[in-house]
Amino acid sequence: MSARPRVVVTRSLPAPCEEEVSRLFDAVLNPDDVPLSFDQLCAAMREADALLPTVTDRVTADVINTASRRARIIANFGVGFNNINVAAAAAAGVTVTNTPDVLTDDTADLAMTLLLMTARRAGEGERHVRQGKWTGWRPTHMLGTRVSGKTLGLIGFGRIARAVAQRAHHGFGMRILFTDPYPPSPEQARALGAEPRPTVEDVLRESDFVSLHCPATPETRHLINAERLRLMKRRALLINTARGDVVDEAALAGALAAGVLAGAGLDVFEREPTVTPALLTMENVVLLPHLGSATTDTRVAMGMRSIENLSLFFAGKPVRDRVA
Ligand code: DGY
Repeated sequence: MSARPRVVVTRSLPAPCEEEVSRLFDAVLNPDDVPLSFDQLCAAMREADALLPTVTDRVTADVINTASRRARIIANFGVGFNNINVAAAAAAGVTVTNTPDVLTDDTADLAMTLLLMTARRAGEGERHVRQGKWTGWRPTHMLGTRVSGKTLGLIGFGRIARAVAQRAHHGFGMRILFTDPYPPSPEQARALGAEPRPTVEDVLRESDFVSLHCPATPETRHLINAERLRLMKRRALLINTARGDVVDEAALAGALAAGVLAGAGLDVFEREPTVTPALLTMENVVLLPHLGSATTDTRVAMGMRSIENLSLFFAGKPVRDRVA
């Protein structure tokens, strides 16, 4: 029997991460990459010393409080940890870690990708060409919205939002507005050309583009609802790379259909992988399958960061990214 801690890894990870976790631990991998059921997650908590889940595994209070639990740490593969009941973990004395920093740049790049695609009708244009509908250049064909010099409103101003501000302000000359309960120092904000606003409503009213960067918590659920969508400019575009349930997706589909705002670029959805059917039919909406951190560099770095947290924990040292 192995003396090494047993770690259940819930999904397939990039090869270097699977090699590393297997080198350091008695790792139980998931080569078929089939999501674990509730019963399998409970069994993992009973039979392993650690769980390495991803953002789609629902690690509920029932999973954490499974009878005869052996696991003492949940090392999430992901910066967002709304998939884990951290209050239940804290109450049960189970450590929870996440993977911040390593996905900041790639997620910010994807937010800019969505912003540019939506503004310049790139998804629609690509479909147009592939479907053989393009009849040639003409002055009035598929006119989009200029990005450079416009106002970008950021809801939440943490690491990823600041990386978006860096790109948008210094790369595209955009004016940046933000709202966040934990704002940076005035100097930090000034370096990003960013001006604070006291409320979400202020940012929505003034912005040509709104990009969401707040965590998914009970307080931010449906933060962007029908009422707030009505505050946006009619030519404005909404970008979401945060979490799906920050937006009331049905209200967004209704607002887009009614022309309350001009378009949306979405990487995350309320009921992934299901998307509100009306959105699938709208040309002014760009839809991506939760690709924010999806580069090889970042996904390897995320895995290594989870493994580092496990290594520190089992060496009896403070973990790097403790969230509970
Ligand atoms: C995260 O880490 O929270 C991301 O959503 C995964 O891309």
